[in-house]
Amino acid sequence: MTDKWTAADIPDQHGRVAVVTGANSGIGFFAARELARAGARVVLAVRNADNGAEAGRDIAAAVPGAKVEVAPLDLASLDSVRSFAEQFKAANDGLEVLINNAGVMAAHPRQLTADGFELQFGTNHLGHFALTGLLLDRIEGRDDARVVTVSSGAHRMGRINFDDLQGGRSYGRWRAYGQSKLSNLLFAFELDRRLREAGSSIRSVAAHPGYAATNLQFAAAPRLDRMVMAVGNRIMAQSAEMGALPLLYAATYPGLEGGTYVGPSSFFEQRGYPRPVGSSSAARDEDAARRLWAVSEELTGVQFRIPATQP
Ligand SMILES: NC(=O)c1ccc[n+]([C@@H]2O[C@H](COP(=O)([O-])OP(=O)(O)OC[C@H]3O[C@@H](n4cnc5c(N)ncnc54)[C@H](OP(=O)(O)O)[C@@H]3O)[C@@H](O)[C@H]2O)c1
Repeated sequence: MTDKWTAADIPDQHGRVAVVTGANSGIGFFAARELARAGARVVLAVRNADNGAEAGRDIAAAVPGAKVEVAPLDLASLDSVRSFAEQFKAANDGLEVLINNAGVMAAHPRQLTADGFELQFGTNHLGHFALTGLLLDRIEGRDDARVVTVSSGAHRMGRINFDDLQGGRSYGRWRAYGQSKLSNLLFAFELDRRLREAGSSIRSVAAHPGYAATNLQFAAAPRLDRMVMAVGNRIMAQSAEMGALPLLYAATYPGLEGGTYVGPSSFFEQRGYPRPVGSSSAARDEDAARRLWAVSEELTGVQFRIPATQP
């Protein structure tokens, strides 16, 4: 294996099932396409059915014989998360790869999810927390099963404001994004610790794409931010296809340890080929992770039942 790991290095995925959230666009689309190319049956978990169907057609056109399905999932609604999980479980005995990828950035003004959570914390963290908890019993016991949670270099500017998690008293769009992406990492690492303690064979890992030109920069941010990021996208960003590589590495690299965080290797982790990377000390704060976990269970009403596979 060279240090330039690409999608061509993905091991055979035939017989494996993958769910990718936000797979109609950006890095999620390319991650789904390359998993399908490697033989996985891929469920595109998307909130807009037409966009999902179009992504499915694009993957089928690029990968003849691709096994791709589209299923509705709005992470900003716990009802939608529950019905996605129910429908998936009714139709599937198992799930080998869950990629918690969908996200929204720098929403302005402050917006709320259907359940009254601040949009970024609610979508990026709480929605994926609930989804993972609800699907975990289908993942347990599967061969080389992995949960990949997508964070960002922006986790480094994140603080978990336990006194005002929803930004109701004081809201900053970038602060809220940083909090949501730090939450993604705290969740991924805490899940890893809990799985290990239970003797589970599932591995919880995390990834970030560096700086990739996608819709993220234009979906929710205010006009001035969008103009600045449009310039950044042209001169600094790598392609969404390259940005998907850390997710694919985290999902498939043989023998990858639980708790690994994968990102691009060059230019301050903004671009390049994937490799394990470091995280902020705040992301490794076990007290904060336990506290966030408890709050997340309370807010979502989803209690994790981590099954033990070993005696
Ligand atoms: N691009 C970067 O430079 C960068 C850097 C660091 C981290 N990331 C992370 O990478 C992940 C993917 O982002 P991207 O860059 O590929 O952006 P993107 O092209 O905007 O893709 C985001 C995806 O998330 C979906 N999504 C948003 N809200 C949702 C909801 N409530 N329910 C279900 N799906 C929802 C979007 O659906 P719609 O198409 O319907 O809006 C879209 O499919 C995010 O977690 C982001 O934080 C990206």
